[in-house]
Amino acid sequence: MRPSVSWKLFCAGWALASTGFCTSSGLLADLQVDLQDWASAYNQSVAAVATLSNTDKIRLISGQSVPSINFEPYTSDDGSQGLESFFYVTSFPESSAMAQTWDPELIKANFHAVGQEFYGKGYTMINGPTIGPQGRTPWSGRLVETLGQDVYLAGIAFAHATEGIREAGIIPCGKHFLLNEQETNRSEVYWSNNAVTVPLNNTAYSSNADDKTLHEAYLWPFYDGVKAGLGAVMCAMNRVNGTYACETPNLLNNVLKTELAFPGFVTPDTSGQHTALGSANAGMDFGATSFWNPQTLLPALANGSLSQARLNDMAIRNLMPYFQLGLNTKTIPPNPPATAPVDVRANHRALVRKAGSAAITLLKNTNNTLPLHNPPSIGIFGSHARPTLIGPGTTMDDVHTHTTWPGHLIFSGGSGISSPSYQITPYDALLSKALQDGTQLMWAMDGDLSIIPYTAVTGTMGTSAAPTFAGYASAVSTCLVFINAWSGEGHDRSELRNIPQDKMILTVAQNCANTIVVINTVGARLLDAWIDHPNITAVLYSSLLGEQSGNAIIDVLYGAVNPSAKLIHTIARNESDYPVPICMTADCDFTQDNVYLDYKYFDAHNITPRYEFGFGLSYTTFNYSVPPAISYVNDSALAQPIPTGELIPGGKADLWDEVMRITTYITNTGDRDGAEVAQLYVSFPEEADQPVRQLRGFQKVFLRSGEKGLVEFGLRRRDLSFWDVGRQEWVLARGVYRFWVGASSRDLRGWVEYVVA
Ligand SMILES: *[C@@H]1O[C@H](CO)[C@@H](O)[C@H](O)[C@H]1NC(C)=O
Ligand SMILES: *[C@@H]1O[C@H](CO)[C@@H](O)[C@H](O)[C@H]1NC(C)=O
Ligand SMILES: *[C@@H]1O[C@H](CO)[C@@H](O)[C@H](O)[C@H]1NC(C)=O
Ligand SMILES: *[C@@H]1O[C@H](CO)[C@@H](O)[C@H](O)[C@H]1NC(C)=O
Ligand SMILES: *[C@@H]1O[C@H](CO)[C@@H](O)[C@H](O)[C@H]1NC(C)=O
Ligand SMILES: *[C@@H]1O[C@H](CO)[C@@H](O)[C@H](O)[C@H]1NC(C)=O
Ligand SMILES: *[C@@H]1O[C@H](CO)[C@@H](O)[C@H](O)[C@H]1NC(C)=O
Ligand SMILES: *[C@@H]1O[C@H](CO)[C@@H](O)[C@H](O)[C@H]1NC(C)=O
Ligand SMILES: *[C@@H]1O[C@H](CO)[C@@H](O)[C@H](O)[C@H]1NC(C)=O
Ligand SMILES: *[C@@H]1O[C@H](CO)[C@@H](O)[C@H](O)[C@H]1NC(C)=O
Repeated sequence: MRPSVSWKLFCAGWALASTGFCTSSGLLADLQVDLQDWASAYNQSVAAVATLSNTDKIRLISGQSVPSINFEPYTSDDGSQGLESFFYVTSFPESSAMAQTWDPELIKANFHAVGQEFYGKGYTMINGPTIGPQGRTPWSGRLVETLGQDVYLAGIAFAHATEGIREAGIIPCGKHFLLNEQETNRSEVYWSNNAVTVPLNNTAYSSNADDKTLHEAYLWPFYDGVKAGLGAVMCAMNRVNGTYACETPNLLNNVLKTELAFPGFVTPDTSGQHTALGSANAGMDFGATSFWNPQTLLPALANGSLSQARLNDMAIRNLMPYFQLGLNTKTIPPNPPATAPVDVRANHRALVRKAGSAAITLLKNTNNTLPLHNPPSIGIFGSHARPTLIGPGTTMDDVHTHTTWPGHLIFSGGSGISSPSYQITPYDALLSKALQDGTQLMWAMDGDLSIIPYTAVTGTMGTSAAPTFAGYASAVSTCLVFINAWSGEGHDRSELRNIPQDKMILTVAQNCANTIVVINTVGARLLDAWIDHPNITAVLYSSLLGEQSGNAIIDVLYGAVNPSAKLIHTIARNESDYPVPICMTADCDFTQDNVYLDYKYFDAHNITPRYEFGFGLSYTTFNYSVPPAISYVNDSALAQPIPTGELIPGGKADLWDEVMRITTYITNTGDRDGAEVAQLYVSFPEEADQPVRQLRGFQKVFLRSGEKGLVEFGLRRRDLSFWDVGRQEWVLARGVYRFWVGASSRDLRGWVEYVVA
């Protein structure tokens, strides 16, 4: 183990109390942190900052070059799904699609490839991965950009995404910190006529969550991100408990920098900074020149309202990822013009196709309708099957009044846009397959077929059908209906179902005994208008899949890929089943829902979902050997309720120790090879005051037909702990823990108990 270095934690007008947290009554204090693989970067940063004048430090923390230490400001862009506005870049799946794979190594590979493209286009930082919104409400417009509605899954995915980016030599900037749960009223909208700037009648909403909710339901994944090496964290636009997130000392100084020992810098989301000193003293480290410049900060230093130590700390934190990633020793490629022929795509298309097919969940498959076996004729329905006007860097914001997109949808809006150099639509992919197989196609991909004169398409040979969805549906053996749902940054959802789409599906189903529905959606999409229709024999459901979307879908439809993705959110039967709608008031109190996000709310209130969190079918079947076994227990670790380890980036080191292991065997009992995502849910002792069951382990295992495989769930101390508000610690409860193994949050196959004495 490396020696601890003394990390100066600057509470800036706050002091470190005996509990290890900043309090409102004192000066700065030191925090002992074992910086692990940041230690050398810390030494280099301290040494470099020691040579700088205060004016240079101010340049450093406000995005300007500092020639004396060869520092060039970071260049950053949004785009966990690829660069936003360039030619010759790859359009990757949205983050929510990556989470839906439940495959950490694939997530890491995907983000690594994204990072390589950023590097190749001259960038040093990605504004991502994105972890908040966490999913308080399914109407939240940006869940498509995030890693699912369960904190454990999101945390594992966040860590792997962070590692992938970091290993590509790019700074991962985790966002948004914190409680940025909706787009509506996320910031003031100002009106300006050059003479005056006045806020319009809305205000940045305040997310008011208690300390337990904050820790257990929202902060959790940031532990994983910081442990995995986040170099930056983006504070959010919204307020928390009435104060802007970027100006809340408890959030930045205490929670992020002390409890999690985050060693990098905090940077604001657009318009997240509101004052010079409020932000600096709350723990923001990188800011705008309009707030942070020699005219504002030098007088503040002189009169003590900003301490010298805090300014040094800000400068050091800005340099930490610079040295850690060796950016000081590299020649970063130049940032080319958007259309310049700098091709950074490599063979990432293969990865995008693989990830896309791994992200598609099979929800329904009556009598093994899928995979398709050489269907004689196929009808293709819905505009989501074909291309429409959209191209590299299209800001989908222009279409924000729409809730669906009249063409194949492969990315979302705002920071969820990508810049495809082409796209494979389902129509394109089906066409090649039909040519190979000799399948007869019919296609009705426009919503309004009444514009086609009936006589123009009525034949006389007995082969023609009425040019309507019903007519075409009744003329083919297999019907494929494609639908999507759109939302994005700045635009929450106004619906979770779409009436014209549902009508199209029903019309086709009433006329076609083999109707298969394919959905690409930004979040939960209700299916109850038609899901029980006997002619709807199969349903595929996924997020937005990037440029290879059509190939990925066809790979699953025809069985080249056996589906293995599981839902990352609950699909309810009705809107009213979800905990809360979008908050329209200035204060958003997280009281009714508190820690009960997604399936935890459905479990707590005994609400039957249509498809539960974790659900997903396969073309094969899996059997679990039950009950599961407890194969390892560290009794001496469990005997100690509170972590006692040294602080490392990611919290106290022993929070990460494996304290128990649960095992089971899974057998592929069907006649196809395939992968199963085995899931572990934990019921806590009463003392912990936790939801009915929570995901605390998963493993995706690939098994050949007939093969039996061992699944092991390692439980870390933190996985069995609750946040004790009084003690301000993660505490292992005393009592009976029950460990459930299953194929979803409701398809539980067996359990085993253990009493922590
Ligand atoms: C950092 O500096 C300290 C004090 O000078 C030294 O003890 C330590 O070995 C250095 N660590 C690294 C990783 O360079
Ligand atoms: C803001 O409110 C005032 C009255 O309270 C009203 O006159 C004005 O039209 C409102 N502005 C907007 C943009 O809604
Ligand atoms: C929030 O946004 C809605 C819709 O734009 C608006 O009607 C409402 O006044 C806003 N509320 C606040 C508190 O700003
Ligand atoms: C917000 O207020 C609640 C209730 O007082 C408190 O538990 C919580 O810690 C506060 N959150 C932050 C980030 O200060
Ligand atoms: C110190 O200087 C800053 C920056 O000029 C100013 O905003 C602040 O009010 C001053 N504080 C005191 C106590 O004089
Ligand atoms: C599925 O197969 C069963 C048994 O062959 C049959 O009774 C049932 O009608 C089939 N269902 C559909 C929707 O085809
Ligand atoms: C199912 O499709 C067939 C046409 O193949 C149709 O006759 C039947 O009415 C449909 N069933 C329902 C419930 O709509
Ligand atoms: C479904 O949800 C909507 C919107 O919350 C509500 O108005 C309606 O009553 C609900 N319907 C049922 C059957 O619960
Ligand atoms: C599945 O597992 C159960 C319990 O482990 C066992 O009783 C059953 O025979 C198995 N079924 C098959 C088809 O292997
Ligand atoms: C069990 O936990 C203790 C205390 O956390 C630790 O020192 C020990 O190394 C662990 N034992 C094993 C076998 O992991």
